[in-house]
Amino acid sequence: MNRPIGVFDSGLGGLTVVKAFLRHLPDEPIVYFGDTARVPYGTKSKETITRFSGEIIRFLKKYDVKMIVIACHTASALALDSVLPEFPGLPILGVVDPAARKAVKMSKTKRIGVIGTRSTISSGSFDRAIYGLEPDARVFSKACPLFVPLVEEGRRSGPIVDAVVREYIEPLAQEKIDALILGCTHYPILADRIREVLPEDVALIDPAEESALSAKFVLKELGLAATQSTSESERAAQLKCFVSDDAASFKRLGEVFLGQAIPYVERVLDEEFQAA
Ligand code: DGL
Repeated sequence: MNRPIGVFDSGLGGLTVVKAFLRHLPDEPIVYFGDTARVPYGTKSKETITRFSGEIIRFLKKYDVKMIVIACHTASALALDSVLPEFPGLPILGVVDPAARKAVKMSKTKRIGVIGTRSTISSGSFDRAIYGLEPDARVFSKACPLFVPLVEEGRRSGPIVDAVVREYIEPLAQEKIDALILGCTHYPILADRIREVLPEDVALIDPAEESALSAKFVLKELGLAATQSTSESERAAQLKCFVSDDAASFKRLGEVFLGQAIPYVERVLDEEFQAA
């Protein structure tokens, strides 16, 4: 029960998901893997992302994880179904289903918007999850490929951000959506800007929040919830991060995504990763 949860992403963005986990599951130790050497996943194929995801899960299993959370929305959308049969007995959660459930619950008109990377949107995974829950829904999806580089360049506001947000979000507003899924790890960071372009009554769904709540439920159901409670000061030490490229830049940039200092980051060497 006191084993860690393994969380992974294509890079730093998944720390927005870790942030939600630290808030909702403060006693759970987390081992995070950011595939910074191979980021971005948002332009890659299903086959490639499935292979990367399998390698990362095998690596995380070395840390005796009790559950895997695919924080990367692109990997959740493209690889979750394919990796599941490879790891029987290991609960693996993605971010797509929890977000779809929340969107269907929040939407009154059932006109739901989804934004994500190109690979996420072309996979149609969010659409399928929503239609599976609500066959009468209408889903309006849009790839927003410029959002990730803007956020990673530290651009959160200003004329360039406003222009890009308008370009992507205004067409969705015109479709009269009343819920919008922020289907990428980086997008919650632009939530305030996105909100400015949408009518007030449109619900913004952050999959990180929903996934943390869903993981909490699953851990409890499986009898795997942590039994030790951690004090505020011990909590930071419960997060261990591994990356496939430079650890120093991950530590520096990652703090923006996590909203606090990252206590431990280690670069994983290729041999170590492939031997997993
Ligand atoms: N983490 C990815 C996602 O949530 C965004 C960055 C990338 O393209 O790898 O879809």
